[in-house]
Amino acid sequence: MTIQSNNRKSGKIYQAVYQSWLHDPEKFWMQTAEAVDWFRKPSQALFEQKAPFYSWFDDGQINTCWNAVDRHVENGLGEQPAIYYDSPVTGHKRTISYHQLQDEVAKIAGGMAARGVQPGDRVIIYMPMIPETIVAMLACARIGAIHSVVFGGFAAAELAVRISHCRPKAILSASCGIEPNRVVDYKPLLDQSIELADHKPDFCVIFQRDIQAATLDSRRDIDWEVFRGEAKDVPCLPLAGNHAAYILYTSGTTGAPKGIVRPTGGHIVALQWTMKNIYGLNPGDVFWTASDLGWVVGHSYICYAPLICGNPTVLYEGKPVGTPDASAFWRVISEYDVKALFTAPTAFRAIKRQDPDGALPRQFDLTGLRTLFLAGERADPDTIEWAERHLNVPVIDHWWQTETGWAIAGNPVGIECLPVKPGSITLPMPGYEISILDEKGQIMAPGELGTIAIKLPLPPGTLSTMWEADDRYQDGYLSQFPGYYVTGDAGIIDEDGYVYVMSRTDDVINVAGHRLSTGAFEEVLTRHPDIAECAVIGVKDELKGQLPMAFICLNSGSITPRQQIVTDVVSLVRQKIGPIAAFHLAVIVERLPKTRSGKILRSTMAKIADGHQFKVPPTIDDPAIIGEIKEALLLIGYPINDQN
Ligand code: COA
Ligand code: AMP
Repeated sequence: MTIQSNNRKSGKIYQAVYQSWLHDPEKFWMQTAEAVDWFRKPSQALFEQKAPFYSWFDDGQINTCWNAVDRHVENGLGEQPAIYYDSPVTGHKRTISYHQLQDEVAKIAGGMAARGVQPGDRVIIYMPMIPETIVAMLACARIGAIHSVVFGGFAAAELAVRISHCRPKAILSASCGIEPNRVVDYKPLLDQSIELADHKPDFCVIFQRDIQAATLDSRRDIDWEVFRGEAKDVPCLPLAGNHAAYILYTSGTTGAPKGIVRPTGGHIVALQWTMKNIYGLNPGDVFWTASDLGWVVGHSYICYAPLICGNPTVLYEGKPVGTPDASAFWRVISEYDVKALFTAPTAFRAIKRQDPDGALPRQFDLTGLRTLFLAGERADPDTIEWAERHLNVPVIDHWWQTETGWAIAGNPVGIECLPVKPGSITLPMPGYEISILDEKGQIMAPGELGTIAIKLPLPPGTLSTMWEADDRYQDGYLSQFPGYYVTGDAGIIDEDGYVYVMSRTDDVINVAGHRLSTGAFEEVLTRHPDIAECAVIGVKDELKGQLPMAFICLNSGSITPRQQIVTDVVSLVRQKIGPIAAFHLAVIVERLPKTRSGKILRSTMAKIADGHQFKVPPTIDDPAIIGEIKEALLLIGYPINDQN
């Protein structure tokens, strides 16, 4: 494959930066750490006494809220916009300056401290895309409380699992979220989840939205405005560099979500470095990440990184289409003079579907936009090409995970815009040494497909462990190939060092850029009294990338009509996992394809459903079952394009 000839640079500057890190990582990160404010500077960057659990800047003292808010006020930038809140679903817009943000955050932090929230206590934030959610996150950071933001599209049961696991002292929430087709009542979901959880918070603070107020329980709930009104400002507390800033739960292979722990110092240092070097932004440039604060992309690039670097952040409470139409993104870009947009490819697929000829972007002044960044799932060439043609800016695909908190590999336009190769996420970022390993942990030759692993230590800003689950972190990521962190992705590195991310190596699927566990679906489905066993796979979907599909075997003697069982499981998943699972494909089969040792052949099933070529594994228990699976899919009218 050849590098496309275009006006991008040769890669020499990137190589110089990458090599400077590789040659002396300690020096690289200590110098990078100079760009942020410390109460006490760290004496060194890397602490490796507890390897393979590494940590960064442990003996420094720092505060995220200070770096994201107060220092800008201190530096005379208090009146500059920090947040542009734009909510097409409510018709509201608001600009919040650093000064206003500081006032709000200091009060909410003060309110929490007055009610006994101490550094290290957990606080769950279950809130929609409103400025108060950012206030809540920063208020936790101000006093050293560890926040755990839970995405609003999860069901009460998922929230309950997180409450039980991280045992929050307080929960900050809102009366409702707003989806284009409905108002999502948060409060009944919150009440139900607290009821289900085996831990109860001391208190809940509820932000009452104009559109719909919630009924409060006076023994536990406090109205946000009352809470704020009673509170006294508190200053930013100096915290150790390795103090946990937040826990963010993500999907693993089982139904139990993994609580990724992000330490404070490395988080601030790494995010600060990325805004200039990866995203090419100068202070004052408007940055818009069209995602949700409940995901890692929202944590890093709606909230923390732009605020730390003095980039006004757009907080958009809407969708790419339907609020009101497929021109929403172009309106926002032109209205706020957005310099860089970051979103998931699925958002662009949704827009492209409604405006294939790109007529809408032409109606807006998009001349301020310099770059589009995509991540969260594999970017398909059609979408990249459509975006490049109609926006006339470089489209940068970059790859990262909840665990890493920032890009593992990408095209660092702030250093230099590298030549791109179709299908590749370009080159590793400083801090990451990526290898492709075979089953024995040997480094594979260029072009060979294997497990993508990162040489330890991971850089600052990545996870330090999983919340109260060191063993799970070690077993899941560090033990398979000692000295490496295993990403869970499979891919290739070519002869020029370009990285290609091809698929997951585990049972995680990616639905509209959202990471979901097939194991979690299976745990829910097997609770149905008629279901004996099941297997859930991800099948190709033009809009969302993948959709979950369940293959279900019924108990012998089951007399419930099959259609009823399908209806039941669809609503069970919505109720237990949440609407975000987008689950509606279920197929009833007589048996599941398995190896002779009993392992379910999920990837073979996915290939059958996607119409991809496959070889029947020699270990299959009974080859006839392949035909049965195809028949079952045809029976429900599923359009398989059989190439076998
Ligand atoms: N609270 C409650 N419900 C939510 C929700 C939230 N915060 N976010 C989504 N949902 C619900 C939706 O209302 C929908 O429910 P429905 O079944 O009643 O219609 C369901 O979850 C699925 O939502 P969504 O994934 O948004 O699908 P969609 O079909 O409504 O929209 C896209 C499709 C492509 C427009 C949408 O998925 C999108 O904007 N994706 C961008 C993804 C993204 O930002 N990923 C983050 C990684 S960078
Ligand atoms: P999450 O932790 O939810 O951000 O999901 C991380 C996973 O999404 C990665 O491990 C990949 O499987 C996938 N992913 C993220 N970005 C990309 C990308 N640019 N290309 C391909 N896959 C990606």
